[in-house]
Amino acid sequence: MNKSIKISLLPGDGIGKEIAEESKKILNWIDKNTKLEIILQEDIVGGESIDKNNTPLTDKTLEKISETDAILLGAVGGPKWEILPFDKRPERGLLKIRKDLDLFANLRPATVLKPLINSSTLKPKVIKDLDILIIRELTSGIYFGEPRGVKKISENEKKGFNTLVYTTTEIERIGHIAFKTASTRSKKLCSIDKANVLESTELWRDVMTSISKNYPDVELSHMYVDNASMQLVRNPNQFDVIVTTNMFGDILSDCASMLTGSLGMLPSASIGKKTEGRCNAMYEPVHGSAPDIAGKNQANPLAMILSLAMMFKYTFSKEDIYSKINKAIISILDKGYRTKDIHSKNNKLVSTSEMGDLVIKELENEKI
Ligand code: IPM
Ligand code: MG
Repeated sequence: MNKSIKISLLPGDGIGKEIAEESKKILNWIDKNTKLEIILQEDIVGGESIDKNNTPLTDKTLEKISETDAILLGAVGGPKWEILPFDKRPERGLLKIRKDLDLFANLRPATVLKPLINSSTLKPKVIKDLDILIIRELTSGIYFGEPRGVKKISENEKKGFNTLVYTTTEIERIGHIAFKTASTRSKKLCSIDKANVLESTELWRDVMTSISKNYPDVELSHMYVDNASMQLVRNPNQFDVIVTTNMFGDILSDCASMLTGSLGMLPSASIGKKTEGRCNAMYEPVHGSAPDIAGKNQANPLAMILSLAMMFKYTFSKEDIYSKINKAIISILDKGYRTKDIHSKNNKLVSTSEMGDLVIKELENEKI
């Protein structure tokens, strides 16, 4: 019997729409060729929702998506909405989903695919076989800490302020995910903080050290974030699993993406605790809405397609679909097909939609 699964598709803004179209092709293919029946529910978020509903995410949309099994999101934002007050901006919609569904663990793998080894600005010997996983805390820290705001403090002076806050419980829960994940990989976990300056990350370090006692097989190390950013480009292969705070994870994952050649290749999963009847996972590319190339059929849809693959692995426990999509992508790259962001001499330049079609063609070669 077919198992039916319900997926929310939120294309968002800019290139989000184009890459979501390609992801839809893949979802349709899975629906037709496997025992899964996919029920797709499409909604708007970010700038488009601001234009239509005067808010980046309506309560109704939030309720609808929270009743599905998983969310697949493109990207949000664009210059058009940058002039709006903070709480009305497209990014707020995304942050609201993360916070409301309590998707506290953000997994961002950075893997160097063999065919793309020359796309990175780093020397091939530095990034060869790179396979790291950044686990970013996603629902606390400076992104959500109170108080926050911009206040007038005198006639010509204002004060902008945010609060970096972490509780023991928040650190413990992301820590347990990180240790468990590390124990299934190379058993090395590096926790990144700024414990020499920030008290909240001094607590972060203490809690990570304290829970490490439950995972004797995992070797825990600590690193300050400034050093870590340098080490990531100097010798990235020293890392396997990294666990870090919300903002440090945001910054380091962009940095790690460039090791792999393009931000257009990096998928992510944001996962929360499983509660019956409530969505606990959102999958999205690490890149943004790239307004400069939106609507030109140029964007790389692979980060979103790889995010979709992660969804089948983590939410639906379909490792076979996950590896099939990954293999299809490697094979396409092996054959020399590239979107503009990863294109170089002697490769075949393809558009967003052509890349999506190539993935389908590759999947067709070998049915699941
Ligand atoms: C990311 C993005 C978001 C973040 C933005 C769009 C709010 O940069 O997912 O890395 O800062 O978390
Ligand atoms: Mg970011």
